[in-house]
Amino acid sequence: MEPVFEQLFDEESSTLTYILGDPVTCSAVIIDPVDLHIERDLAVLARHGLSLGYALETHAHADHITSSGLLARRTGAKTATPFHCSVTTCDLRLFDGDEVRFGSERLEVLHTPGHTEGSVCYLWRGAQLDQVRNAVFTGDTLFIGGCGRADFQGGNAGELYDSITDTLFTLPEQTRIYPAHDYKGNRVSTIGEEKRNNPRLAGKSRDEFIALMNGLNLPKPRLIDVAVPANRNLGLPHSV
Ligand code: FE2
Repeated sequence: MEPVFEQLFDEESSTLTYILGDPVTCSAVIIDPVDLHIERDLAVLARHGLSLGYALETHAHADHITSSGLLARRTGAKTATPFHCSVTTCDLRLFDGDEVRFGSERLEVLHTPGHTEGSVCYLWRGAQLDQVRNAVFTGDTLFIGGCGRADFQGGNAGELYDSITDTLFTLPEQTRIYPAHDYKGNRVSTIGEEKRNNPRLAGKSRDEFIALMNGLNLPKPRLIDVAVPANRNLGLPHSV
């Protein structure tokens, strides 16, 4: 039986959320859920008859508030966040090489610092290069035709280059990429496609990438002062 794969979108922050499920054990995970869409996400889980095992974050987001904390309360799921991303209220802190299991499926944690100090990607391997598994959920480390910025939350352009080229670009070329954001209507790419065509990385040396990233001069995200503290508590009020 094919596993469940749902890619969901938040128009407000252009965030992509993922629900993955094992149809045999009905166990599921959600990656990067958004507070505004908790009812939608619960309805998707219910539609597939899935029980949420883990609510996962790729990092502490600056542009939206997570629903991980509330999802855990409503479903009995555990929350799991990267060790280095300063979330102290989670059930499980994830290190490079850790595995998150849902039924007979598993995600491998890849620590990929650069966008933020604590950013991770989740690698979903399968026995064959089938249509659903063999995918990597790249958070804001690697976008389709771009990458996350590296100028706050312990971000570092050199580390981002190393994470992308030494960790992600060494995966099999057919591995599908599912990012945490897309602003142009793209929904999936592959490692091979990004190696060849990502304008931030293709043909760029480490120094060229650092110069490009340091010259972006992007405005501060509108919600950063609200979202980052909220996300360090998984979206739950700090008084609770
Ligand atoms: Fe981010």
